[in-house]
Amino acid sequence: MNDDIILDIQNVTKRFPGVTALKNVSIQVKRGEIHGLCGENGAGKSTLMKILSGVYPYGTYEGTVIYNGEELKLEGSSIHQAAELGIATVYQELTLVPLMTVGENVYLGKEPIHRKSIDWNFVYANTKEILSRYRLDVDPRATVKDLGVGKMQMVEIAKALSEDAKVLILDEPTSALTEAEIDKLMEILEILKSHEVTCIYITHKLAEFFRTTDTVTVLRDGETVVTKPTNELTEELLVSYMVGREMTERFPTGDRKPGEVIFEVQGLRATDPNNSSREVLKGVSFDLRKGEILGIAGLMGAGRTELVTTIFGEYGKITDGSIVLEGEELKIKNSRDAIEYGISLVPEDRKGQGLVLIQSILNNVSLPNLNQFAHFGRLDKDAELRASMQQASDLAIKAPNLQVLVSALSGGNQQKVVIAKWLMSDPKILIMDDPTRGVDVGAKYEIYKLMNKLAEQGVSIIMISSELEEVLGMSDRVMVMHEGRSNGTLTIADATQEKIMALATGIG
Ligand SMILES: Nc1ncnc2c1ncn2[C@@H]1O[C@H](COP(=O)(O)OP(=O)(O)OP(=O)(O)O)[C@@H](O)[C@H]1O
Ligand SMILES: [Mg+2]
Repeated sequence: MNDDIILDIQNVTKRFPGVTALKNVSIQVKRGEIHGLCGENGAGKSTLMKILSGVYPYGTYEGTVIYNGEELKLEGSSIHQAAELGIATVYQELTLVPLMTVGENVYLGKEPIHRKSIDWNFVYANTKEILSRYRLDVDPRATVKDLGVGKMQMVEIAKALSEDAKVLILDEPTSALTEAEIDKLMEILEILKSHEVTCIYITHKLAEFFRTTDTVTVLRDGETVVTKPTNELTEELLVSYMVGREMTERFPTGDRKPGEVIFEVQGLRATDPNNSSREVLKGVSFDLRKGEILGIAGLMGAGRTELVTTIFGEYGKITDGSIVLEGEELKIKNSRDAIEYGISLVPEDRKGQGLVLIQSILNNVSLPNLNQFAHFGRLDKDAELRASMQQASDLAIKAPNLQVLVSALSGGNQQKVVIAKWLMSDPKILIMDDPTRGVDVGAKYEIYKLMNKLAEQGVSIIMISSELEEVLGMSDRVMVMHEGRSNGTLTIADATQEKIMALATGIG
């Protein structure tokens, strides 16, 4: 036995009906290292982690996993068994119960019992201790729903670490975090390392591998392509291992010629629908041309999502200002009105708002768009299927067929389904709220190509993005928000990261 190896994954194969998610995967994870796991959407990353955490127990896969010198044989009956053995997992999706406190969540399902009742003093004292050990700035008695996504992620980590973890698996922990929160997470990883916790780290943000990891393994189509020390890798190399070819450009070049202004927002102000004294939009003005891609940049909390959900009739209560499409002032009361006018929104929270997980891909993509396929009161099923298949293949959705339930898709592929659904609605104005979050580099490129194609066909696109590179790579103009206001619009020729940041922080 090699003492340096804490996890020795040997020839693991995992089959689902119609898909072999992992094919003979072998990876050795060294004790105390941060081991990155990299691969396209559907490459098998989450599946492998679910084997290590017991979601797919011993006997449901082929091959061997040696953990700490012994074969790992997790039973299906206990979800805590892996944690008790020291393998802790923070899943791709948040798993906290929103109405419970931080402490209750951390001890959920393993509540300490003292004299026949739950020992709450112990729960809160220990939660506090764990939080402070990793310097997590969260109140153990706060209710989870009142925390931001960043803090929730920290609670997930605290929950995972509440048992003495030897291995911590983080599956895309940063996809919803702000830059500052990501910095914080990187600090936590360093602290964990000093406590000799081994980490397996999954992300689609390639730069993060170079910030944190010691070693990276690349998976492609369920197979291990390579395991290498991070210092022998570059982003270009990683990409070529991931997609199996070189990708020389990150953004496709478009041939766009934006036309006349077709959409105009003037002095828009709105309040929180649940609290009319809280103003969320404090004066937003911008215009959008036909066939243009307008990027909206801003820091977390600047009001970007509030702006687009208000335009879409889903959120804010408008108190002032106007929204004009093709010369007509719109009165949008709900999202149905917006869709009627030709406005579509790919939402930020795709799981919550965009998808019905227990339905097939076909139903998710086509149901909201069925009127397109109705002829003389009958549904043209062939046309529905053809159009949906076209969208699925344009976006390279990875699934054996369109009858597959969305819940069986990998995280990134679920996102593509939402995008496909809104593309099918054939909008005049397509609003995309962080469209490539959690999407791999290859699929990002496909989404960018589609955006270009739509814009060339005359669709006007509003794209919110937290990645400045993406804003600069895709937009014709960039509108920057600061504290609920539009703080300036830059043409792409004039825009730089510095200028955008200056406007976003209110200096510019
Ligand atoms: N429960 C399931 N039933 C059927 N197929 C599944 C199931 N879970 C995953 N798959 C399939 O297995 C493959 C690997 O999925 P997995 O979730 O491991 O990918 P991933 O690498 O984590 O991708 P992402 O980056 O999008 O999260 C995909 O083709 C997926 O559709
Ligand atoms: Mg995944």
